[in-house]
Amino acid sequence: MKLGLSRACLYSSCCASIFSSSMPSLTTIKPKIPLFLRQPAYSVTSSDLQKWHGWAKNLVSSVGSSFVESDNGPDSTLLCRELNWLLEDSLENRSSSCFAFSACKYDTIDGIENIMLRISLDDLYQLWKQRIEERRPFQYIVGCEHWRDLVLSVQEGVLIPRPETELIVDLVSDAVSSNEELGQGLWADLGTGSGAVAIGISKILRIYGRVIATDLSPVAVSVAMFNVQRYGLQHVIEVRQGSWFEPLEDVEGQLVGIVSNPPYIPSDNISGLQAEVGRHEPRLALDGGASGMDYLLHLCNGAAAILKPGGFFAFETNGEKQCKFLVDYMQNQIAGSFCNLNIVSDFAGIQRFVTGFLQGPLSLERKCPELKSPARSLTEPQTFAGQNFDIEGGGHPEGPEQGKVTFHGNRVSPRRKSVEGHGLSKEP
Ligand SMILES: C[S@@+](CC[C@H](N)C(=O)[O-])C[C@H]1O[C@@H](n2cnc3c(N)ncnc32)[C@H](O)[C@@H]1O
Repeated sequence: MKLGLSRACLYSSCCASIFSSSMPSLTTIKPKIPLFLRQPAYSVTSSDLQKWHGWAKNLVSSVGSSFVESDNGPDSTLLCRELNWLLEDSLENRSSSCFAFSACKYDTIDGIENIMLRISLDDLYQLWKQRIEERRPFQYIVGCEHWRDLVLSVQEGVLIPRPETELIVDLVSDAVSSNEELGQGLWADLGTGSGAVAIGISKILRIYGRVIATDLSPVAVSVAMFNVQRYGLQHVIEVRQGSWFEPLEDVEGQLVGIVSNPPYIPSDNISGLQAEVGRHEPRLALDGGASGMDYLLHLCNGAAAILKPGGFFAFETNGEKQCKFLVDYMQNQIAGSFCNLNIVSDFAGIQRFVTGFLQGPLSLERKCPELKSPARSLTEPQTFAGQNFDIEGGGHPEGPEQGKVTFHGNRVSPRRKSVEGHGLSKEP
């Protein structure tokens, strides 16, 4: 049985009205510039910076293993690494020869009179206090997360993209490799958050491939737009605001692929999450209803109507139980619509993703529906203009040279790779 979008949209409109009343409008939101992209407008003396660093290290020591014990939060080794990264992002020249960091030490600062920072010393004190005392996530403090080969802007109101979600891009890559036509069609990333997955898959698509990235949250939409613009992908990715399939009505039945990492944590589990997650990340991005399955089922129901025959889907779940439930649902409740259903494990060996295809042969007799703008090479280096974006703590974004972003080959970010755990309680 193929369920039409009308049913899916009925559900999503009601969802939208629940959430939209308390949300700021898109036009009032200005994404914050990540710390490492701001102007180095603050001069401090080396001894003042040293004093701050000593104070910050003491604060870390005072934590000991208390966060680990209370909610499996960060230990002092990780906090020390974060402290170094904060300094790295704050310094004008992050590879400055006057600093030699290793395990929370810096050695040859003496003799350097003034050091240029991208943030005031007062703000550095403030931010590190928030990190330790309020458990504000490190990524919100520096305003970015390293994910695959990308450095994505994030801020409160937007989920920090997780390592396991990187695999969705690989799943799309595998699908496109086995059927070139998938690479030339229209894709959607539903619940895009920072735009991570949409940006990741846009690099895999061929010249005519396009992505529509959607989210209900206006903060997420504006941060995703910022990231898309920073990587010069406005002509490949269109960001739309709305609930699930609602912003895709004009492309019903025309998509060659959909991907989503929807909220899937059971409501009752939210209060037990690591403080960084439960207190600071948006509930809208986490809470999947009583069983955590509300949105996953909604996506399954809508997938048949939005995809072309032969179209691919990949959904992230909370783990084995949700994966098995979804596959069973698709085989039995919406039987006949999908084929090649597969459960894929993440890096940690946890069954995490459900993938499959809509029955039928994929045909591209119609080219990918045109988005607002024509195609552009994905490898073209882009500069970052920085207008229209807000800067927490003053200053101006770096000019084109400093903000230039090109794609390069590292699949996994060295910064993120050294961080274990991500604070979401998942099935073992
Ligand atoms: C788990 S987060 C995933 C974010 C991003 N895709 C990632 O992997 O980092 C789920 C996302 O779904 C969005 N969301 C929640 N309810 C939604 C709805 N009704 N329609 C569209 N997006 C929704 C949230 O705002 C959030 O950005």
